[in-house]
This record gives sequence, C-alpha cells and structure tokens, in this order.
Amino acid sequence: DAGDPVLLPDDRFLTIAHRGASAYRPEHSIPAYLLADEMGADYIELDLQMTRDGQLAVIHDNRLDRLAGMPERVRDLTLDEMRRIPYGNHFNEENPGIADPDFAGVTFSGLSDVLSRFGNTANYYIELKDPGKWGEMEEAVLRDLTAYGIIGERDVESDPEGLPRVILQSFSEQSLIRLHELRPDIPLIRLYSFKGEAHLSSSTVRKLAGYASGVGIPAASAHSDFIEKMHDAGLAVHIFTVNDEDEIQKFIDMGADGIFTDRPDAAVRLSQRH
Ligand code: G3P
Ligand code: CA
Repeated sequence: DAGDPVLLPDDRFLTIAHRGASAYRPEHSIPAYLLADEMGADYIELDLQMTRDGQLAVIHDNRLDRLAGMPERVRDLTLDEMRRIPYGNHFNEENPGIADPDFAGVTFSGLSDVLSRFGNTANYYIELKDPGKWGEMEEAVLRDLTAYGIIGERDVESDPEGLPRVILQSFSEQSLIRLHELRPDIPLIRLYSFKGEAHLSSSTVRKLAGYASGVGIPAASAHSDFIEKMHDAGLAVHIFTVNDEDEIQKFIDMGADGIFTDRPDAAVRLSQRH
C-alpha cells in the first residue's frame, strides 16, 4: 500500500487556467500561460500527448488539424518537429477578434519547455491524455518534473501559500493508481465525464479515496449532494470548464473547491470577493 493520498486545502477556491488563459490567447501557448499567471490563476492547466520520440507535447488533441490546420498526428512527429510548427498563425486566422501579430511566432511546446520557462514560479495542473495508449507516460511526466525541480526525491514543492506545485489529472484510473504507487506524495485528480448528474457508488468512492485527492467533473453534472459526498470522503471537487461569470459564482456557492476556466481573470475576481 502506497499510503493515503495528499489532502488538498479545503478552505479556498482554486482557479485552474484551462489550457492557460485560453479565452484570450492560443491554448497551451507560453503567452496564454504568462497571461494566466498575470491574472493570478492558482494553476496553469496542461494536457499532454506523447510524440514519436517519446517526449511529452503540451497539446489537447492527438491530431494537429484543429489547432494548426495540418493532417498530422502528434504520434507521427518528434517534439522538435512540433516545436517548429507556428500554430499561432492558424489561431490568428481562425480568431480575427483576438488575433495579435505577436502570436504568429507561437509554436507547440514540450512539457520540458513550459517547466523550464516557469520553473518554481507557477503551479502546474497536468493531464495525461490517453496514457494507456503509450508506454510509460507516467514515468516520462515524473522524469520531467524531477529534472526541473518541481518534485524532489520524495516530496512536492509548495508555493508560498502552501499549494502543491503540481497536481496530476487523468480520466484513466489505471494511470492514476500507477502514479500513486510511484509517487504517493503527488496529489491526483480523477476525471469523470458523467452523462447526467454526477454519481459514484460508496464502494467506488472508497476505492477512489485510496489513491486520489479529488475528482474533476463536468459542469453540467455537478450538484451539491455529490460535492458533499466527496467532501465526506476527504476528496476535493473541481469543475470543468466554466467561463460564464454567473456559472462560476454558482459553483463557488455550491461549495466546489475549484474550477477549470478559460477566463482566469473572472474566476480570480469572483473567488476573492468571497
Ligand atoms: O482536464 C479537465 C478538463 O480540461 C477536461 O477536458 O477535454 O479540456 O481536457 P479537456
Ligand atoms: Ca484537460
């Protein structure tokens, strides 16, 4: 047994900048993360896919068509090849209202590039996408986090407010259990995509509480009974993805512990008013 999961703070509402401040800048780009940081987000969110050469690229999709207008798949490219693709140009064409000539130079990043850029000045909320498809994605994430000093041999660094520098998230239970065995000191969030209202059986909650620090659930599924049940088991509840201010306020009032948002400025403002 790897031991009990880490407890996340239960006295504050976390703003998780979904793909960076992605309402305003190209998702997962360094400028989007810089803006999230300026806006006072508690965490910057990263999705990871594995490249042909076994590196971790910061990208949501497993193909490049939506973001770069190219037919390639991430797994067919090396990280260096992805680093040369200027998807900021495509962003400007697709988003004339918020296009900016500065985005033209924006290219894809590796996890290592983001960690090297921000080091211990940001908190990272990192999703392993489809970890089952790849060999050893978990080891690759831990390797990069170690290399940039975000985690030590046996402990996770904290920010000045006591928040852990890294939280790992996945829809894959298998991947999270593996991560918990490897590094019980890292807080883990199990993602769910409920069809209707969020619901987990008591036995599922017991198992979950053995390896995870909380859950991430879709906004449409969230309700206060579920949040209470998770809290009774010591689990945090983070809601994705919420951009509307009234909705953000609703989840603050509902007792959620944080939200994923493309508009961290709005969430920071509303959560501080509380
Ligand atoms: O990671 C939580 C939320 O971001 C899941 O949705 O598709 O944006 O990764 P997605
Ligand atoms: Ca995500």
